[in-house]
Amino acid sequence: MVQLATALLFSAAAVVLAAPAPAPTAAPDLAKRTTTCTFSGSNGASSASKSKTSCSTIIISAVAVPSGVTLDLTGLNEGTHVIFEGETTFGYEEWSGPLVSVSGTDITVTGASGSYLNGNGADYWDGEGSNGGKTKPKFFYAHDLYSSTITDVYIQNAPVQVFSIDTASDLTLTGITIDNSAGDAEGANTDGFDIGSSTSITISGANVYNQDDCVAINSGTDITFTGGVCSGGHGLSVGSVGGRSDNVVDTVNFLSSEVKNSQNGCRIKTISGDTGSVSGVTYKDITLSEITKYGIYVSQDYDGTTGEPTNGITISNFILDNVSGTVESTGYNIWIECGSGSCTDWTWTSVDVTGGKTDSDCLNLPSGISCS
Ligand SMILES: *[C@@H]1O[C@H](CO)[C@@H](O)[C@H](O)[C@H]1NC(C)=O
Repeated sequence: MVQLATALLFSAAAVVLAAPAPAPTAAPDLAKRTTTCTFSGSNGASSASKSKTSCSTIIISAVAVPSGVTLDLTGLNEGTHVIFEGETTFGYEEWSGPLVSVSGTDITVTGASGSYLNGNGADYWDGEGSNGGKTKPKFFYAHDLYSSTITDVYIQNAPVQVFSIDTASDLTLTGITIDNSAGDAEGANTDGFDIGSSTSITISGANVYNQDDCVAINSGTDITFTGGVCSGGHGLSVGSVGGRSDNVVDTVNFLSSEVKNSQNGCRIKTISGDTGSVSGVTYKDITLSEITKYGIYVSQDYDGTTGEPTNGITISNFILDNVSGTVESTGYNIWIECGSGSCTDWTWTSVDVTGGKTDSDCLNLPSGISCS
């Protein structure tokens, strides 16, 4: 009897002991997952670059990034959260940048309320953008960034191009503000979002005030820009496509957005003499106002010197649905220059762009499409 009772007791104890056994190995992992690191001031950028893989949350709090240095947040651990707080500044230097670079998988980048990244653009703006004058740093590289989000980041006074999204996938940018309104006189080539070789990119609720393309998609698949406002710049663009290693654009949706006080509204530009393809571009529920050059623009002679559009880059399955608004009397409502046979299967419904001139020299229109 006594022996049996002991055996029962022993086996019950063994069960109780078995449950907490994994705890000693789990504890260090848990500690690592929850390390919050705060970086600030003039050493913040170098400290952050050195320590970034030891932190699960990286707070960039009022960091003064020195001149000629990238705030290097590349190669972050999977799941890292980056939070910008206060004003992030960047010292002046003529260099090509980028000022900030983030890469990794399952990364969350957030701008805290009231935070902003100040590119100090006025010290660079000389009217020449990236075509001459001072060498200007690009702002924010989202290259090799996967299954990630960038939310509520506020960029002010970019020297030149702002977001470069390249070799990224499953990336969502929400509530981004780009305010380059101070650069209207001399800022140039301040593209909001340049996208290349990327897949499944969504930009939602962006507010962009700049002096070049609000969005420019050079290559990539499954790109959506929705609920945005673009002002001061060159509009919602595909291209220019051509002359790069990747010249394929497939499935692009510009939805429920407003383009105002801009050179162009909806624009597809492909480079003369090059090869590639643009398919499945849709502009739906777009309103235009105070457009100075072209409401809707398609050119297959972009940057060409011959003046002749070529057909090496096809534009197919191009949908406009509910695109309306006004062009200034100096501009054109619709401008189309296709190569011979390279524009096919376009479906335009409820297109109502008025106020500007009618282009009487539209070239190689696909069937069912007219410039008036
Ligand atoms: C057309 O687009 C505008 C702007 O997005 C929207 O307010 C309106 O409801 C759309 N019209 C239809 C019929 O969907």
